[in-house]
Amino acid sequence: MAPVKINEGIYWVGEVDWDIRDFHGLTTSVGSTYNSYLVVDEKTALIDAVSKGGSTMLLRRISEIIDPSSIDYVISNHAEPDHSGALNSVMEAAPGARLLASKNGIRRLDDMYHAGWEMKAVDDGEEIFLGRKSLQFHNAPLLHWPETMFTYCPEARTIFSCDLFGAHIAGTSRFVDRLGAAYVLQHTRKYYAFLMASFRTSVLSAMKKMEPLEIDIIAPSHGPVWRDDLSPLLDSYEEWANLNLLPKATIVYGTMWGGTGSMVDAVADGLKEGGLDCTAWNVVSTDPSDIIADLFDSSLVLIASPTFVSGIFPPVEAFIPFLRVPRDKSKKVACFGSYGWGGGAVRRLVEILKAEGYDVMDEQLAQQFFPGNEELKECYEFGRGAAEWALSTGK
Ligand code: FEO
Repeated sequence: MAPVKINEGIYWVGEVDWDIRDFHGLTTSVGSTYNSYLVVDEKTALIDAVSKGGSTMLLRRISEIIDPSSIDYVISNHAEPDHSGALNSVMEAAPGARLLASKNGIRRLDDMYHAGWEMKAVDDGEEIFLGRKSLQFHNAPLLHWPETMFTYCPEARTIFSCDLFGAHIAGTSRFVDRLGAAYVLQHTRKYYAFLMASFRTSVLSAMKKMEPLEIDIIAPSHGPVWRDDLSPLLDSYEEWANLNLLPKATIVYGTMWGGTGSMVDAVADGLKEGGLDCTAWNVVSTDPSDIIADLFDSSLVLIASPTFVSGIFPPVEAFIPFLRVPRDKSKKVACFGSYGWGGGAVRRLVEILKAEGYDVMDEQLAQQFFPGNEELKECYEFGRGAAEWALSTGK
């Protein structure tokens, strides 16, 4: 794949990873890209450096535009290996280049690569001049490591936003308008929920910092570039980061012989009646990152489990740590489930979730074996009550 011009004198020269399906816990069902951008002027700068496996491809793409040995600056917006893995090869190919990163970035790159590169820390707001174009550096910590920064080219009204605004999508289309904003946003949402939601205050700070900048193009480190209409992306991020919870509930359940599974429909009907639309996910057959992408803006999460050896069904218990990913302890939680003879799963769920600091509804529902008509009515009432509780006590 050839380099792609994304603006006058600015080229995408990154890596397409068709194969990746697991990005440290986040499933990437359509692969990803590790974007690297070359800014060509009287001087030349490379922004980020793809993964180690993409080194050859990166240098080949750069070579189609300039001789890599002529690169003056290599800018590291983020030290994580999907942005820095190819740095060894790049710095070897461009021995005269100076590596620029935030203060924290310099430390991190040193700790990670011990390479003795010529590095310079850039201050927040510092700029370099390439000729007709300049590049400004803006610290944006925790997006998504402490050292992250973004780079802005005012003359091209282009921001290289690092992980912020990314999406894991592999493909030859380099622009959102070629793929359709709705499709890209589906992936952006999942990416946000898993990688950015934990740092939503940092997201809000970065967006505030971007407000005075004139931006026509957002070039993130993953997925396609946004241009022309940026509002679908910025409006979505604004809503997500402000934690505007929607009138919806997410049921996360496991089932062994179908008892707990049979309760789900009736609970969902009750939730609907109480004012919350609902989705339900079986943890055994659903990838946790898809569940997180759904639940991070739900007003209420219901965890449902059958009893297994007096406790929680292990696949349900294994999901609980994923609830921490959006770092939203204000979320309302309710628990229900089933048992054969002794019970214990629902009680244990409540104990664990309360101990984790969630606002757990006092009323719980545990039913024996399979629900009959009376029990289904109870499920319905439980769902309705949970919705009313969440709406009356929630934001
Ligand atoms: Fe794209 Fe935080 O790595």
